[in-house]
Amino acid sequence: MTCTLKEGDLVVIEFDERRRFVTRLRKGARTGSDVGVVLHDDVIGSPCGSYVPVRGGRGGYALVYKPSIIDVLEHGFRRATQVIYPKDSALIAVLAGVGPGARIVEVGTGSGFVTALLAWLVGENGHVYTYEVRREALETAKRNLAMLGLEKRVTFHHRDARLGILEENVDAVIVDMPDPWDILDEAYRALKPGGVFAAYTPSAHQLYMLMERLLEHGGFTRPRVMEVLLREWLPEPEALRPASTMIAHTGFITVSRKVTKKEQV
Ligand SMILES: C[S@@+](CC[C@H](N)C(=O)[O-])C[C@H]1O[C@@H](n2cnc3c(N)ncnc32)[C@H](O)[C@@H]1O
Repeated sequence: MTCTLKEGDLVVIEFDERRRFVTRLRKGARTGSDVGVVLHDDVIGSPCGSYVPVRGGRGGYALVYKPSIIDVLEHGFRRATQVIYPKDSALIAVLAGVGPGARIVEVGTGSGFVTALLAWLVGENGHVYTYEVRREALETAKRNLAMLGLEKRVTFHHRDARLGILEENVDAVIVDMPDPWDILDEAYRALKPGGVFAAYTPSAHQLYMLMERLLEHGGFTRPRVMEVLLREWLPEPEALRPASTMIAHTGFITVSRKVTKKEQV
């Protein structure tokens, strides 16, 4: 089946590896960078994954293609907060069992980077309920989700989740907030039996506090704790080797399961 780019499509315009822009194609519009401009009229009607001329600047060509979700997260989404990057959020989603039809609670919507991945994974029959105390962050997240057309799969609560999670019997509660230990009772109440609690914490102090409270709680399994170190390699056949720099630390991932408290057995 052929794929042709048309007006209204979300596309990546890639001038080079450091200049990638996610934009929606409109007749008469242009996407510019410091190395030149791409006219959308040149892109409309081109095959997906092809080259179009760069006008002005350095000239040459830019690559145009339809984005995958990671392209949109990395190059299209606005950031109103610290965010969780796909190397971490993808593992959190898999560990939490997020898949088609799942009902997921998220605490700490932030810019919606995790919300978007979750909404994409739960599919048309699943749903994400997300909590955020900062109105400005919530609005950024809504705009970001709308870029992917995923906002209908999400209920946005402008609410402090510590005052109560409104859903029950959910498959997973995924938390990115400074004090995740304060949400354990609410998460326990909202989860279905056997459901997964997952938290992301940047610092060892937060991890320590969370571990201590999870173990004290009595209603969660012994947690798994991990972190992801991602090292890219330079794709040079004559000098194939790891890149000399990498992001050394982002955060710790803690995962545990809701179980019956021992005194209830
Ligand atoms: C680091 S940001 C989350 C970023 C998000 N995971 C992303 O990738 O875009 C943490 C967010 O949690 C929110 N937050 C903190 N405590 C909260 C609470 N008790 N209830 C709801 N949101 C909370 C903050 O306002 C902040 O926007």
